[in-house]
Amino acid sequence: MKQVTKAAELTAAVEEAKKQGLEIGLVPTMGALHEGHLSLIERALKENDVVVVSLFVNPIQFNNKEDLEKYPRTIDADLKLIEGLIARTEGRAKELLAFTPTVDEMYPDGEPKEVYHFGPVEEVMEGPRRPGHFSGVAVVVRRLFDLAQPKRAYFGEKDYQQIAVIRALLAQIKYPIELVPCPIVRADDGLALSSRNMRLSPAARQMAPAINATLEQAAEMSEYEEVDDVKEWVLDTLASWHEVNGSPDGLRFEPEYFEIVDAITLQPIADWSESGEEGAVGCIAVWLDGVRLIDIVKF
Ligand code: PAF
Repeated sequence: MKQVTKAAELTAAVEEAKKQGLEIGLVPTMGALHEGHLSLIERALKENDVVVVSLFVNPIQFNNKEDLEKYPRTIDADLKLIEGLIARTEGRAKELLAFTPTVDEMYPDGEPKEVYHFGPVEEVMEGPRRPGHFSGVAVVVRRLFDLAQPKRAYFGEKDYQQIAVIRALLAQIKYPIELVPCPIVRADDGLALSSRNMRLSPAARQMAPAINATLEQAAEMSEYEEVDDVKEWVLDTLASWHEVNGSPDGLRFEPEYFEIVDAITLQPIADWSESGEEGAVGCIAVWLDGVRLIDIVKF
């Protein structure tokens, strides 16, 4: 593994690799790595000759200052995790470049002015609740695409809407990059791994797996219940979870939304027959103990 902090150094390494006809895989992250990220990096190591992992907390995708400040920054531990992964992976990749730029290195001309719009895929769920978020993601991901010039780019399905936005970005900028969505990695109790889980109190961490358990039950219900009934049941079940199960420290789930949408267009469906070839996905955002958790279930 080689740590690279300068954009020019990354470009030079990438240009050299391309001259030799090597294929590059990009795994964009904001650091605070967990097994979910490692599964993306592992896959990239198996499918490419050179892997670029970016570790950069992108300020322009945070519409909440406190969220940006609280975002965990654990670069040294992250680099050790990557080294450990390389040591135990039988990969095709000969080289891994860990790109850890500063904000000034990434945005040398100050806050970028460009704004992206993606139409319907960003007008649902996270989009209206986090104004400017997806445009901020698109700006940094495009910059990473320009610097790393990957053949393939790996993104986790926990941020399901982000994948649809990146698909739309690729269609807009016409870069021939293969988007590789990777399945969610879960803790043994079912909680989707997320850097935000670190902020849960022990009591909240104990409660959090109920989100996935509820979604799994919803998947079973979808065999015989209507879309609206499944939606209502999920929201009610989580909102009243503390009444039914009791809760430590007076904690409760506060669902922000649960939408059942077409897996590609992300438009809400009213009937199971309305989803296209890839089926339907349920996407949820829930507050617990001051932490906003998201998860998905495929129908
Ligand atoms: O999913 C993330 O961690 C971020 O949104 C990404 C894609 C690395 C862009 O900052």
